[in-house]
Amino acid sequence: MDSEVIHPKVLGYLGRALSLELTAVQQYMTQASLAETWGDGEASQRFRAETVEEMQHAERIVARMLALGVAPASSQLRPVALAPDLVGLLEHNVDLERLLIDHYDEASRFCLLVGDAENAAFFTALLEEEQHHGEALSSWLNSLGGPRQRSGYGAYSQRQARSLQRH
Ligand SMILES: [Fe+2]
Ligand SMILES: [Fe+2]
Repeated sequence: MDSEVIHPKVLGYLGRALSLELTAVQQYMTQASLAETWGDGEASQRFRAETVEEMQHAERIVARMLALGVAPASSQLRPVALAPDLVGLLEHNVDLERLLIDHYDEASRFCLLVGDAENAAFFTALLEEEQHHGEALSSWLNSLGGPRQRSGYGAYSQRQARSLQRH
């Protein structure tokens, strides 16, 4: 599809996708180092492999933006979500994957709505990969006893929204 006929919102979806993928790169890379300091080589290796996967997603988005004639520009990255143990890290990661899944779901639906089949297919492919990734993370988490009650990105976002409303 020619960049002249790209809906501006599609470029917005690409920009936010890049921010989320780079957030995942930063988060999983940091967690790989953290797990290493805990002496958990297996978890560290797994986080490292996930870092590479997310970087490859970011690369695909960058390539797509270049192909559409726009300069990649992610907005601010989310802070790395850390926890005192592996279950806590995985809980955060399931939340982050959920954000990615929701984003790609919305982006692909929007592209279909405006008749942009090419970008719809691009976002759908990423959606399917993140769904598999989310499932793998959930089963890893379940193998460790499953999620606990805690505040995650959702609670964080709500707090942020509330604090923004006060200003
Ligand atoms: Fe990803
Ligand atoms: Fe992912």
